Amino acid sequence: MPDQPLFEMAGVEGRTLEELRDAASTCTNCHLYQDATQTVFGKGPQRARLMIVGEQPGDKEDLAGEPFVGPAGRLLDRALVEAGIERQTVYLTNAVKHFKFTPRGKRRIHSTPNAEEIKACRPWLDGEMAAVGPAVVVALGATAAKALLGASFKVTRQRGEVVDRDGMKLTATVHPSSLLRLKDPERTEAIEQFVADLRATAALLD
Ligand code: URA
Repeated sequence: MPDQPLFEMAGVEGRTLEELRDAASTCTNCHLYQDATQTVFGKGPQRARLMIVGEQPGDKEDLAGEPFVGPAGRLLDRALVEAGIERQTVYLTNAVKHFKFTPRGKRRIHSTPNAEEIKACRPWLDGEMAAVGPAVVVALGATAAKALLGASFKVTRQRGEVVDRDGMKLTATVHPSSLLRLKDPERTEAIEQFVADLRATAALLD
């Protein structure tokens, strides 16, 4: 189970997405705001039935101010199409709303958020879940899965498991970035499995 029960932190319950987005735009709950360009809040319909939670914005998302607009987002888009899910119907967000990176020359290299940073960002994710009220929430990758399903959750062993909580079905699969790092034929197979997971997620909405 997660370290923090849903909806218990920081008075986020009852706030609209717009109110949450405004408040999150000046968030200083952890140090990550100092180097990031901006808070990257979630995006999608207020009443989406499916919410997808990634880890944190990447370089492109940090600059654009929108989740999943970079390479991982493009892979996710293709997988959603193959799984028969329309992206415009999905609320897309991240467990952490600021880009964490290490500068290397002109490049900014992704750095995995730690437990404290994930916890500091938790009120925003809880607020989004409360405001949207999705039927199904799918975590992409270990960071989001641990945030939603508990620190002991292992995506490699438990992907596709479904947990019923607070009227929602919570599940997890791999992060599309991990697929981008693979080479064929492993990559093609892994993408097919990812699409199958998304299809199973869509079936939970029926
Ligand atoms: N990876 C994520 O987890 N989220 C994004 O928004 C982009 C890349």
